[in-house]
Amino acid sequence: MAIPGSLTQLDIWKSLQSHYQDIKDQHMRDWFAADLNRFERFNVTAAGLTLDYSKNRINDDSMNLLMQLARVRNLPQQINAMFTGEAINRSEKRPALHTALRNFSDRAIVVDGQDIMPEIRDTVRRMEEFCWKIRRNQWRGYSNKPFTDVVSIGIGGSFLGPKLASGALKPYWDSRLNIHYLANIDGSHITEILKRLDPSTTLFIIQSKSFGTQETLKNALACRQWFLDNGGEESDLPKHFTAVSSNVEKAKAFGIAEENIFPMWDWVGGRYSLWSAIGLPLALAIGIDNFRDLLRGAFEMDEHFRTAPLEQNMPVIMALLGVWYVNFFGVNSHAILPYDHYLRTLPAHLQQLDMESNGKSITLDGNPVDYNTGPIIWGGVGTNGQHAFHQLLHQGTHFSPADFIMPMCSHNPIDNFHAMLVSNCLSQSQALLQGKSEEEAIEELVASGMSKAEAIVLAPQKVIPGNRPSNTLYFPKAKPQTVGALIALYEHKVAAQGMIWGVNSFDQWGVELGKQLGNKVLDALESQKIPQHFDGSTNGLVRAFHQMQNL
Ligand code: F6P
Repeated sequence: MAIPGSLTQLDIWKSLQSHYQDIKDQHMRDWFAADLNRFERFNVTAAGLTLDYSKNRINDDSMNLLMQLARVRNLPQQINAMFTGEAINRSEKRPALHTALRNFSDRAIVVDGQDIMPEIRDTVRRMEEFCWKIRRNQWRGYSNKPFTDVVSIGIGGSFLGPKLASGALKPYWDSRLNIHYLANIDGSHITEILKRLDPSTTLFIIQSKSFGTQETLKNALACRQWFLDNGGEESDLPKHFTAVSSNVEKAKAFGIAEENIFPMWDWVGGRYSLWSAIGLPLALAIGIDNFRDLLRGAFEMDEHFRTAPLEQNMPVIMALLGVWYVNFFGVNSHAILPYDHYLRTLPAHLQQLDMESNGKSITLDGNPVDYNTGPIIWGGVGTNGQHAFHQLLHQGTHFSPADFIMPMCSHNPIDNFHAMLVSNCLSQSQALLQGKSEEEAIEELVASGMSKAEAIVLAPQKVIPGNRPSNTLYFPKAKPQTVGALIALYEHKVAAQGMIWGVNSFDQWGVELGKQLGNKVLDALESQKIPQHFDGSTNGLVRAFHQMQNL
């Protein structure tokens, strides 16, 4: 699939640059005053989610031009290529087919001449059987007691997606199982998890697509040893250790019984793998029916992304708005602000999804880009963030577009908590939009009893520029289907941006160098010799490590 020419040389790019000059000093406040239907016009609903994008620095011309950009970049053809299994991950010569994992249609999806759907369906059936056995106490630990705890060992995509969805769907946890996520290579993390557990009632799931990730293997070995040191026998291991991996041989070599290995495929990227058996800890917590609903919600978003016209296509709209800010307003970050306790780890998941996918500076053809690509993703749950970092959003020198994400109903409707939470969410985006002028600040201060002279001195501190853009994404309640649609929405937003920027959103070569160097540094830390061969700073830090071991 050819993606035409250098992005910045395109006529449409130049039109967008000149349009930016036309509107950059216009205030959204005036646009809202002039157009009472702005909310209805810049609003789209799909798969149970509604996006209000009226609080963006756009008018009809902006959206028309951005849509033209999408067409010039062959976005519909690129989307089709992704869904039909073309090898769009060119550097690894693979398709990116996470959408196949939630394909509820009867469309075949062919990879290397074979329909992959039967194997996917078979894996979901195996997951169902496994969940049934564990949840109904048919599969027990070595002492014949039912399992009480599941430790999911994995990192990156083999951790963040299931962790997010488990948290998001906590109200649907309907088994007595406690699920623990062990990711970091940090003695404190594993210690804190294992110290509360009984090996005879603990099940481990080693989650690693490659089965070669240092942190995961080290943690898995340590858990195995803990199990053997605390009552388990070698012969009990198959009852307590399972794995999800595309590298069955390595998982077997580690000692996992073949029947306890769930498959993964190289056409699923780690950060897109929640929908595969990597979702097993989640399925154990919420049951396979709820897990299927999660997949169904994602499928609905897939169908929307695949078939809706660009102008009404939610992921495409969000992608283009992001491009508008990154490439024309010079913005380099994007805030994710869920107003829902259960969605509090969404920013962490989206950091990997977005930054590992589009943190690229080389095009698919191998040329350096001469424009910015993926922004820095950050954020946190509201209202906590309001008392921490929102100050910068309102008055800082940087402006960061933000996504406010909000269920209209709570799973826990206590008193008027939820109305208060929603009022905070709405008033934050309102404040970002309208700001406060100097005259308004003076008026307010005088009304509070301050003299006009004093008010004039203080007012500049209270001026808030406003005109800061945000999306509000809302839905009735965070149910499994909604959460599936929400995560898939962001997957497609990120993919569509990568398609426009002409980068490969499905590889991650940048993380490799750190891994390679890490092994050499570990050798140096573990040797007694004073290192000379690194840069001066690394040599000094290794020396400091040696010196501080006996303090
Ligand atoms: O180091 C980055 C990465 O490869 C991610 O892309 C991936 O999600 C994570 O490591 C874990 O990889 P694996 O599932 O192969 O252990």
